[in-house]
Amino acid sequence: MKGVVFDILRDMVEEQFGLAGWNALLDKAGADGLYISTQTYPDEELLKLVAAASEVTGKPADELVFSFGEFMVKEFYKCFPGFFDNASGLIDFLISVDRIVHVEVRKLYPDAALPSFTYEGGSSDEVTMNYRSPRKLCRLAEGLIAGSAEHFGEKYQLQHDPCMHRGADCCSLHIKLER
Ligand code: HEM
Ligand SMILES: [Zn+2]
Repeated sequence: MKGVVFDILRDMVEEQFGLAGWNALLDKAGADGLYISTQTYPDEELLKLVAAASEVTGKPADELVFSFGEFMVKEFYKCFPGFFDNASGLIDFLISVDRIVHVEVRKLYPDAALPSFTYEGGSSDEVTMNYRSPRKLCRLAEGLIAGSAEHFGEKYQLQHDPCMHRGADCCSLHIKLER
């Protein structure tokens, strides 16, 4: 993962637990905490930090990854408001992630390991995103969707089936707006 992702994680931990909290996690995870946003660091280091956070807070790693996704959206909005402002709402924004957002991200970070999304049945109030990534971070995707929904002030129901964690070759995330 890019250093920028670790920077966002640090901001989230610092906001809740202060610098001491972040340093404690680095210690536990055996990480030095020196991240350059455009550089790539091992995914295992991020997972170790999440595991350490889970130990400290007693919250399941799964839940923390979801909250991290929600938090990421706020940070992304600060850095890239245009991606959100150009979308007419949640569904339109989600459809733009693979075709526009991550394409632009790749221009900034040419060696970024981004997931791929294919879409089915996009309409004004529902869409299915098929998520594929060797990292199987579908909980992060769920958190990113939740954060995006908060941003647009929209409510939705999510169905996540099939899932790569249950042997499927992709995760199917079906988002339906609640009106
Ligand atoms: C403005 C909005 C967004 C920006 C700027 C953005 C940017 C990024 C960046 C920089 C990474 C890290 C790549 C790396 O470390 O190599 C990433 C990863 C990821 N993004 Fe996005 N993203 C955005 C929105 C979304 C949304 C809405 C979703 C899901 C619905 C999403 C799904 C993911 C996932 C799941 C990953 C983890 C990598 C993986 O699964 O392989 N992103 N994104
Ligand atoms: Zn899944």
